[in-house]
Amino acid sequence: MIIAIDGPAGSGKSAVAAELARTLGITHLDTGAMYRAVAWEAMKLSVIDQPAAVTAIAQQASLEIDCTVEPAVVLLNGVDVTCAIRFPEVTRVTYCAADNPDVRAELVRRQRIIASRLESVVTEGRDQGTVAFPDAEFKFFIDAQPGERARRRVHQLQLKGITESYERVLEEILVRDKRDRSRSVGPLKPASDAIIIDSSEMDLSEVTVLLAQLIRAEDKNV
Ligand code: DC
Repeated sequence: MIIAIDGPAGSGKSAVAAELARTLGITHLDTGAMYRAVAWEAMKLSVIDQPAAVTAIAQQASLEIDCTVEPAVVLLNGVDVTCAIRFPEVTRVTYCAADNPDVRAELVRRQRIIASRLESVVTEGRDQGTVAFPDAEFKFFIDAQPGERARRRVHQLQLKGITESYERVLEEILVRDKRDRSRSVGPLKPASDAIIIDSSEMDLSEVTVLLAQLIRAEDKNV
């Protein structure tokens, strides 16, 4: 069973996907980590502004994601980049991987391989219900007001010991929204058959409980 969750930055979809996977006893796949890992390597090699080189990284790097632990451990060419890919410097350039259609094709291919090896998965990103898994049994699009998303992101960063101002995070969220929604391949948008949830006034557990209820109402075996 594939449960696809899409939504913009800071919507809470990653936390909800992780919690939902735990609730249902299935695996969580964070596809944003894959784009971040490719961008991290391209940054390290100083080729982030060279699309062909970024594509080569996506196609040739060994990218292992251990989804059995939370948060997933991400190994790129054997190097543990789990923490490094979350730094704001990486977040700011990940669009160089995400906007590249060849990188997207390769990472979607890898996502399908990962999912095919699992009995059930909660997969989360921007294009999971639209491009990667159009036949997913369940599709959700989690949204929230930009101000609330910025507040949540500042809090998440604080928990990791990273200080960023609310104003800067909000501005970056608005820039990322525009970029994510307008990219020509795999843009951020709800699938036509996705259930859209505005989580602005809901907390993590309320959204998770709602999703689990909706899934169990359709599928009595989970
Ligand atoms: O969800 P996140 O913030 O970790 O995503 C990091 C970046 O990757 C973000 O710029 C959007 C992009 N992304 C994407 O284009 N498609 C996905 N399936 C997942 C993430």
